[in-house]
Amino acid sequence: MKEVNKADVLLGLQWGDEGKGKIVDVLTPHYKVVARFQGGPNAGHTLVFEGKKYILHTIPSGIFHSGCVNVVGNGVVLDPFIINKELDQLNIPPDVLQESLFICGKAHLILPSHRLLDAALENKKGKLRIGSTLKGIGPTYTDKVARTGLRLADTATDNFIKKYEALKTEHLRLAESLGYSLSDLKLDSLTFEEYEQEWFRGLERLKSIPRVQSEVFINETLDKGARVLAEGAQGTLLDIDFGSYPYVTSSNTITAGACIGLGLAPSRIGEVFGVFKAYCTRVGGGPFPTELIGKDADHLRERGNEYGSTTGRPRRCGWLDLPALKYAVMINGVSRLIMTKADVLNQLDVIKVCTGYQIDGEEQNIFPLTLEQESLNPVYKELQGWNNSLDSVESFEQLPAALLDYVSLIEDYVQVPVDIISTGADRKQILIRKGAGILQRLAVV
Ligand code: IMP
Repeated sequence: MKEVNKADVLLGLQWGDEGKGKIVDVLTPHYKVVARFQGGPNAGHTLVFEGKKYILHTIPSGIFHSGCVNVVGNGVVLDPFIINKELDQLNIPPDVLQESLFICGKAHLILPSHRLLDAALENKKGKLRIGSTLKGIGPTYTDKVARTGLRLADTATDNFIKKYEALKTEHLRLAESLGYSLSDLKLDSLTFEEYEQEWFRGLERLKSIPRVQSEVFINETLDKGARVLAEGAQGTLLDIDFGSYPYVTSSNTITAGACIGLGLAPSRIGEVFGVFKAYCTRVGGGPFPTELIGKDADHLRERGNEYGSTTGRPRRCGWLDLPALKYAVMINGVSRLIMTKADVLNQLDVIKVCTGYQIDGEEQNIFPLTLEQESLNPVYKELQGWNNSLDSVESFEQLPAALLDYVSLIEDYVQVPVDIISTGADRKQILIRKGAGILQRLAVV
């Protein structure tokens, strides 16, 4: 029997913002197709090259490489207003775009009234708010599961406007019952009506983008022997099933999500590249055992520019949490690790890393079912920092000994090799370990 060609998956192992966009951008030259499988414009994948910064919300991070086909899969939720703005920013000639971006007709639409409902629901939660990006993600996935949502393909049907109006009316009724009305809302500094107008303009543009059935397209691409990379958004600890519920997003951010969100059989998943930051961050509410408060947190935030790329909110910062990382490696079947933002720790004399938790006086190193126990305290191991810039380091092997010790500790704990370290925002600031499995996989040794 012929060997099966498999898709690789790249995803985040923490609470999102691990720097996945940059890594996908670096790996893209080795793939024919890059495909997003879940989430929507709550994501903000930042790419920096030739002195310019780009932030992608819905469009896959392979878009900057000619010849790469970018697919937005059935599991993604789409806001035409935001995609339209994203396309304006990218400024890709229409003929190039026709060959480099395909969207699945099964993907669900985020209506302006989904965003209204998101705001109304968050508002109602008061102190218990999740800290949603307010992009309408939760209400859109809710409608999908309730079988009341609208899909991109529905826009071609005669009664689309009727269905749109009916759903909108339902959302407005619900928002009102939560004490929220249209006049309470400003969407990207537009009124609801202005936003809706722009939304429909965006929808026309979205309709001009070639459509695919992602499951057929991806499987046929693999059958032809071409390489496919599935690009995750958010992070494992925000997964609807395995994250710190209810402080999570509304999709499956894990490897299994790539199967659902693209129509891939589990047996067609190849390598799983897990991206994690050398420390931890979280934006929005929810438990965060290794969170730092005060000057150490400020140091990481400022050095790491830890402000949300979608909302601009300051991110909460803390030390690396190894039990959480190990859990994420297990859930995703991670085969290779990629560590980002190592440079952010450059100036620290001491680096702490969480190796377990004290729960009710007992130490355990298993990620707990709920992180909310008040008696949960992280147990730290202290390591010496490298206290040095990494700017002149040209190879993985030349990294300071203290940083290599940090890497060894992580590898010993989670039992997966760290193949790549990113040392800055630019595409070029990347070090791949000599002889690393990832190089063999990409066949560039
Ligand atoms: P939502 O998905 O916008 O509803 O947000 C739910 C939770 O996930 C909130 O805590 C957000 O801050 C967080 N979140 C959503 N998307 C991202 C992301 O791309 N990076 C980091 N956090 C995110």
